[in-house]
Amino acid sequence: MIDRRAFIQHTAALGAAAALPSFLQQSAGVASAPGAARASAARLGSELRIGVIGCGGRGTGAAANALEASPDARITAVGDLFEDRIASCLGHLGKLGSRAEVAPANRFVGFDAFQGVLAAPCDVVILATPPGFRPQHFAAAVDAGKHVFLEKPVAVDGTGIRAILAAAARADERRLAVVAGTQRRHETSYREAIERIRGGAIGDIVMARVFWNMGTLWHKQPDPARTDMENQVRNWLYHTWLSGDHIVEQHVHNIDVANWALDANPVRCVAVGGRQVRTDPTSFGNIFDHFAVDFEYPPARDGAPRFVLSMARQQDGTAGRVEEVLRGTRGMARLSPGFAQISGETPWQFTGEDNNPYVQEHVDLHGAIRSGTPVNEAWSVAHSTLAAIMGRTAAYTGAEVSWEQALNDSTDLFPRELKMGPLPQATVPMPGRPWPPAPSTPPSP
Ligand SMILES: NC(=O)c1ccc[n+]([C@@H]2O[C@H](COP(=O)([O-])OP(=O)(O)OC[C@H]3O[C@@H](n4cnc5c(N)ncnc54)[C@H](O)[C@@H]3O)[C@@H](O)[C@H]2O)c1
Repeated sequence: MIDRRAFIQHTAALGAAAALPSFLQQSAGVASAPGAARASAARLGSELRIGVIGCGGRGTGAAANALEASPDARITAVGDLFEDRIASCLGHLGKLGSRAEVAPANRFVGFDAFQGVLAAPCDVVILATPPGFRPQHFAAAVDAGKHVFLEKPVAVDGTGIRAILAAAARADERRLAVVAGTQRRHETSYREAIERIRGGAIGDIVMARVFWNMGTLWHKQPDPARTDMENQVRNWLYHTWLSGDHIVEQHVHNIDVANWALDANPVRCVAVGGRQVRTDPTSFGNIFDHFAVDFEYPPARDGAPRFVLSMARQQDGTAGRVEEVLRGTRGMARLSPGFAQISGETPWQFTGEDNNPYVQEHVDLHGAIRSGTPVNEAWSVAHSTLAAIMGRTAAYTGAEVSWEQALNDSTDLFPRELKMGPLPQATVPMPGRPWPPAPSTPPSP
């Protein structure tokens, strides 16, 4: 059983405490990964040993991407809350040959599986559980001296973001390499376009629109033979404490592009949102199915405020759109995976061969580890995740929310204790009312 508050306190005590709110600055004893020395960057041998924490679709995919990225990489440890997910992950990876064979002693199951992986022989860990667990796992990975592939989003509330930022500072101190799963930053067409945009190809950016509009994703009906905890974690997309809601879980990619292009974080926002289609709490937990956010960014050089409209929808039968559109004083840019175009005074379109950004992430991570070149994308992904949380909070409550309010928000959505047992049904947010209405503490079984 792992107590979230003790973990947060430990995180704060380890470093960057001065930058944290006072309630995070108390010290408390809690073990990090057993046997894991507070090491600097892991010593590399001839091969790159990779551990996977969270062996679902993305963890399995990222492990395969890592093997493709480096012929000297090997998967050496896996951990998941559920044994069946490890079995299916290893079933898939097994097709890739002996580099994906994991000894039974290095397979870990349960809420403390991450500690087993961190104590096993590995240099890099892939963190790919539902994002609610990411702050805990990232902090422990950094404290164990591991390089990290950090899937997005990286937290679901301000409390988690502060823990990620504190761990990011410790990763810098220890010269650990961290690459995030915001793969647009590793896609050739995006990289070329953003370089041109930041070089002035569309002049000063005055506004942008970013979209992730689509139909519904998978969902899993609860099994009455399972505990609430198991049912919620298996259906994690629909519970804010696990996914952050779809604006955080999915739309963070597009908000990240806005932050990247504008080289800034939003200062405040207003938002609307709700649930019209996915209303059954049994299947769809407590999250919304649509959001629209008006983000205000720091002013342009002429002092005029800049705005980014963000729209995210998961409703079947509606128009799909996943892209970023940036308007500047001298032109416009349209970006989406595999497509990048600039119109206006210096027109340009990406015509080169695009790469596989999911593999490139690991090429870049492994390259940084091998060469000792610092890379730490925990900062940028934490900021993009916080922007998405800020938009969500504005939509959930109906309040205008500033960056500082989002960052310093004491909301802690995580259950007090991690164990298989009952959980309360989370309240569906209602604009005009505070959310969450009360601390989410599971009843004793
Ligand atoms: N970058 C991308 O394009 C992209 C695409 C898909 C998913 N993702 C992200 O990857 C992460 C995982 O998504 P997914 O689609 O693989 O989900 P998934 O449900 O397929 O996998 C999640 C896995 O984590 C396991 N898990 C849950 N809690 C755990 C815990 N406390 N300890 C260990 N294991 C635990 C689950 O059992 C499951 O096997 C999410 O953050 C998601 O947003 C990113």
